[in-house]
Amino acid sequence: MSSQTRIADRAAVSAALADPALTMPRVPDGGPASGIRWLRRSVARFADGAEHDRRRRQATGLLAEVEPAGLRRLAAERTCAALEVIGGGPFDLMARVARVVPIDALVVALGMPPVPADVVTAVAKAYQPGTGAEEPADEAVARLVEAFGGVPDEPTAARVGLLVQTCDATAGLVGNAALAMLRADGERSVDAIVAETLLHDPPVRMTRRRASDTGAVVEIDLATGGCPFGAGPHQCPGQDHATAIAAGILEPVRGYALVNPQVQYERSAALRVPTELLVTR
Ligand code: HEM
Repeated sequence: MSSQTRIADRAAVSAALADPALTMPRVPDGGPASGIRWLRRSVARFADGAEHDRRRRQATGLLAEVEPAGLRRLAAERTCAALEVIGGGPFDLMARVARVVPIDALVVALGMPPVPADVVTAVAKAYQPGTGAEEPADEAVARLVEAFGGVPDEPTAARVGLLVQTCDATAGLVGNAALAMLRADGERSVDAIVAETLLHDPPVRMTRRRASDTGAVVEIDLATGGCPFGAGPHQCPGQDHATAIAAGILEPVRGYALVNPQVQYERSAALRVPTELLVTR
């Protein structure tokens, strides 16, 4: 059955995300041994029950090694270095900073071998079933598995999964918060700007669940529901890391000016990520 219901009311959103009768929508079988379908079938994000618990422990175990304050410093340093290389601009903050620094900072903080951010972006484009071409994502997943030791098992999927989950959502948070900061004249702290952005212009707007009795897919509106990081068993385990990275990036960007305040967004039902943010010093 494929009928869709949308849940947007605040209390109903939290209840739905905690409801064991609403499980993760099924992900497709098949695909290469270390491709995008393998990745989806091997991470916490698309699993339920005991399988989900085990995989989530793998992800949180890795994240526990990364202290958010250190990650924030790392993100700030990497942003300063990027801005130094770029010079005055104008340049696209999304392509040069928001889509690169979060991945680079996390890779370093997690002690991972270097992986290019664009390879992670290629996986993220197709991570949700039906959102992007699988073939380039298959190649990109294979490259990441190779970089992480070449064995397509759950611990490797947990590491790839952390980078992929970071990718679009954190780029969106940085982009939306940068826009709020550069449009306003005030001197609010970057922490306040990030917190307000998560409430009023969150990067992840929607998630889906499947009613286990009827098979109907349910859309859950995280934006109106006031749950920017989700809730319940799948609630984002990387929220402190995400806000730390975003705040670290925003600090050195303060004082830049928007070249074009009219912003276009990526075509996505679930995400709100500026396609381009032209800024200049
Ligand atoms: C602004 C940035 C971020 C936002 C808004 C965000 C939001 C979310 C949301 C809403 C979910 C739950 C999806 C659902 O219930 O269907 C989620 C799951 C997840 N997020 Fe994030 N996320 C962000 C950044 C990160 C970062 C930086 C990491 C890791 C370092 C991360 C790791 C994860 C993981 C592993 C899951 C799956 C958890 C599970 O299924 O148990 N996220 N995220």
